[in-house]
Amino acid sequence: MTRRILLGVCGGIAAYKAADLTSFLVQRGDEVTVIMTAEAEQFVGALTFAALTRRHVYASLWDAPESIPHISLVREADVLAVVPATANVIAKFAQGIADDLLTNAALAARIPMVVAPAMNEAMYEHPATRENIRLIESRGVTIVEPEIGFLAEREFGVGRLAAQPALVAAIDAVFERKRDLEGERVLITAGPTREAIDPVRFLSNASTGTMGIELAREALLRGGEVDLILGPTTVAPPRGARVVRVTSAQEMYEAAMARFVGADVAIASAAVADWRPNKSSLQKVKKGDGPSLLALERTPDILASLGERRSGAFLVGFAAETEKFEEYAREKLRSKHLDAIAVNDVRNAGIGFGTGDNDVVMLWGEAGRRELGRASKRTLARRLWDTLLEIRRSRA
Ligand SMILES: Cc1cc2nc3c(=O)[nH]c(=O)nc-3n(C[C@H](O)[C@H](O)[C@H](O)COP(=O)(O)O)c2cc1C
Repeated sequence: MTRRILLGVCGGIAAYKAADLTSFLVQRGDEVTVIMTAEAEQFVGALTFAALTRRHVYASLWDAPESIPHISLVREADVLAVVPATANVIAKFAQGIADDLLTNAALAARIPMVVAPAMNEAMYEHPATRENIRLIESRGVTIVEPEIGFLAEREFGVGRLAAQPALVAAIDAVFERKRDLEGERVLITAGPTREAIDPVRFLSNASTGTMGIELAREALLRGGEVDLILGPTTVAPPRGARVVRVTSAQEMYEAAMARFVGADVAIASAAVADWRPNKSSLQKVKKGDGPSLLALERTPDILASLGERRSGAFLVGFAAETEKFEEYAREKLRSKHLDAIAVNDVRNAGIGFGTGDNDVVMLWGEAGRRELGRASKRTLARRLWDTLLEIRRSRA
């Protein structure tokens, strides 16, 4: 099968390296179509790419408007790779600005995107660029990190376009992605819950839902149909998931029970509050007459209820512990009738809650155990799905 690669080239010094990449891809048999920004043409001629690809090089929305190129090009490609990506184009991707052919195509793209930034170190390290890269990455774009090395400004620093093998590997990873959840329904709970004390105060925890959101994103990429039940968070869920927003544990319980019917895999990654105030005031409690004691009651146990009700679904829990973490998790695995449990030791600084890294151990059966290591939640989501599906296959 020919790989159809749409290559976006932006106006940076490294644009000449895109010609070398094109040559490599074409020689190995890929079909490469190039879109250049207007500024890219200041650096390399369209003729170079036309000769290398033996195809028309697109540089403007108005080149051949009858074919509506910004839509047709992304429909006829398997991947959109942007090499090199300027700070400017990355900022446009982050904000959804569509003022030329490449940015329109990116906005219309439902195909995977690979973006390889290259720029001066100060531009790369500017908070605006950092934030824009983080944002597009959180939406599922693969970022090929630039290297540290000699820059065009005769300075040494980070910002040099990644070397060709890294670019090729990132493009190839798109084609190697497994579609092993095709036709399956996946239910994921994620995020914290809030238990109201009064209309403005609540009990909650530090979960942001990022791990569950990444698991949902990965399930979608593997072809699954995803119901994501999401507690209050500012982290954006992936496009394509059916998202139900909930606030309290009771709401999460009801949404989870309703969508569990017919699910093939259910992953409970939400940090559900274990207790709630036994009554919440309809009016804001005044400082003067506030209670000195807060009486609590248990919230419904979502995971245990799923465990009791399951009929064929593969059920996975999450445990965040600060001590004896594997021992407690094994007990949870048994008592709640789970197929597997992912454990994070939230004592360690910088992992667990929040949008950073995580460090996960997977436990299953009597003695099944695998360390998935410390990595970004994106990477761990991939390893988690690989492991879960392997456990499921070994049971079948
Ligand atoms: C000599 C020169 C080199 C440049 N190199 C880069 C670069 O490596 N990365 C970058 O983000 N911008 C670079 N710029 C700035 C971009 O060309 C500028 O932001 C332009 O508007 C980008 O257009 P585009 O993003 O539509 O391709 C460079 C500018 C000049 C004049």
